[in-house]
Order: sequence, then C-alpha cells, then structure tokens
Amino acid sequence: MLILGIESSCDETAASIVEDCTKLRSNIIASQAMEHRKYGGVVPELASRRHCENILSTVQAAFREAGCTPADLDGIAVTNTPGLIGALLVGVNFAKGLAFSAGKPLIPVHHLTGHIAANYLAHPELKPPYLCLVVSGGHTLLTEVVSYTQFRILGTTRDDAAGECFDKCARLLGYPYPGGVEIDKAAQTGNPDLYKLPRPHVAGSELDCSFSGLKTAVTNLVHHADQVGEEIDRASMAASLQKTVCEILTEKTELAMQQTGYTTVAMAGGVSANSGLRSAMEAMCGRHGYTLYMPSLSLCGDNAAMIACQGSYNYLAGITADATLNAFASSAVPTI
Ligand code: KG4
Ligand code: ZN
Repeated sequence: MLILGIESSCDETAASIVEDCTKLRSNIIASQAMEHRKYGGVVPELASRRHCENILSTVQAAFREAGCTPADLDGIAVTNTPGLIGALLVGVNFAKGLAFSAGKPLIPVHHLTGHIAANYLAHPELKPPYLCLVVSGGHTLLTEVVSYTQFRILGTTRDDAAGECFDKCARLLGYPYPGGVEIDKAAQTGNPDLYKLPRPHVAGSELDCSFSGLKTAVTNLVHHADQVGEEIDRASMAASLQKTVCEILTEKTELAMQQTGYTTVAMAGGVSANSGLRSAMEAMCGRHGYTLYMPSLSLCGDNAAMIACQGSYNYLAGITADATLNAFASSAVPTI
C-alpha cells in the first residue's frame, strides 16, 4: 500500500510517500523558517504564498525520490486541520486536485494525530493502546491513543501551548524564531536553578496545565532587570524555563500513567525534540519501568511522512473524504 502525504499547516511545505504504513519511501520538506525569522514569527499570508510556490516541486520531488507516480498510489492524505487557514487550504486543494485527476481516494488527517504517528515510523512495534504526550507549537495534550484512529483527550493546556511558551520567552530573551530550539541550545550552558519560576496548578483538573503564568514571570524578570540596569543571565533563564516546563509536562504524564494504568507512553510534536524533556521523560519512565517511545529527531517537527503514515491508518479504517473536504483552522479538541 502506497500513500502520499501532504502537509502545509504552518511554515513547512512537505510531501512524503510511505509504503505499508511505516516504510518511508521519500520525505521532502521545504521549510520557510528562515524567511519568517526576519519577522520574529510566522506571517500567515507569506506562508500561504510560499506554499503555493513550493507545493508542486515538493510533491514532484517526493515522487522522484520514491521512484513512483500518482498511478501507483492507493491514496492521497492531507492535513486539513488544525493550522493557518490559508496555509492548510493550499495543501487541501492540491491534494483534492491530484486525487481527482489520478482517481485516488482523498484522506483527511488531523495534524496532531500525524505527530503521534511519527512514532510508528521509528518504532513500528509500537501498537495502541498507549498514552501520548503531544507537545507542539500550538497544542499541549495528554491523550489516550485508543486505536490507530481513535483518541481520548485526558488533559490539555488552559492557555498557551508548551512550544508557544518556549517561543514567546525566547523572543523576550532576544533569541531568533523558532525559539524552542534556541532555548534548548542555550540551556545547555545555563544554571537551571538560578531563576525560580512558578508552576501553576489548574484547580480541579489535575491533568490540565497552564503556561501563560510562566511566560508572565519571565517577562517580569526581564523587565525588572532592564529597569534596574541588571543583565539577565540568558542561558540560565533558558535553563530555568526549560527545567520548569519539562517538570510540569513530565509530572502530568506520570500522573496520567498512574491514573490510567498504562505502562507505555509516547511523545509527539515539535517540543518532543527538546533534550531536557527527552531526558526528564526517560528518567521518569526508568523509575517506574514504563516503556517510552519518541519520534526520531528529524520527525519531531512538521513533516509529511507522519501525515502519510497516519493517512495510511485512516485509509485502512475507511476514513476518506470527497471533493467537498474543507480545511479548518482550529478543531474542537475532542475530535482528534
Ligand atoms: O510540532 P511543531 O513543529 O509545529 C506545530 O504543529 O506547532 O512544533 C513547533 C514547536 C515550536 O514552538 C518550536 O519552538 C518547538 O516546537 N521546538 C522546540 C524544540 N524544537 C522545536 N521546543 C523546545 N526544544 C526544542 N528542541
Ligand atoms: Zn506540528
């Protein structure tokens, strides 16, 4: 079974072909990150235009690298939610056109389920059910992966996502976009105990988290230092922030494991590339004897291999769409 995946939800135009769900035949990513860096974040209109310019050559490259043509495909999978609406529409409309002209099934994929599926590419032995911590730029979720296509959200952020918190604090500290990876790099040389940052509790909802207070605390410390003419130790602030975010995420995951009785947990999304989070989760799982899965570093961020992989499972479960398929910027959380 050959499935083409197309991803254009944010600032990566990507196309990939996978065989039998987990065998990567090609994986092409045209990233716009350096262009958006000039503006300190993704400019939606610019992203849509670049997707329009890049999508044809990206998909062609995916076919070339895989050594196949549209006629060989069993289906065409595309991210249709969540993301920047103009960006999503480029991928969705391209996929629709190709599916119609090649006479192939069109398969909608929720971006976050794609991130979860990135684990199957590195670890085909991983099989549902298990628990997954999904941490991306726009979302933070603890979800039960009931089957390859069914999910049950156990907890989520009440405000900012973990990645958003990293990105906003990085910007405040003068690091370029995308900030998460810069915080990770800087944290390597900083003292994680220099700054005491708050760890908000969400009353009555133990598996939910909140990161906006953390961002405010970093803002206040930076502004205060400015006002009194002191220098912030940027590396130590990065290390303190990373330590706090990782502790919150790891503790919530530990609690969810204990409450549900699962002994297998996976991580997914851009922030799962964070070195502090990977080691904190390894340590927590080591203490309890849990089995931990993480996507390979190259598949933590946005890519189309994860969309092709999840698209394969969707196709096998009969989840396909017709030409009326639309893109949605945000989706109600329980629908992933
Ligand atoms: O999953 P992703 O590529 O895109 C979304 O679906 O949002 O996640 C992007 C997020 C950004 O916030 C980025 O700063 C963060 O992942 N990120 C990291 C690291 N690499 C990417 N955050 C912390 N440490 C990293 N090494
Ligand atoms: Zn993503």
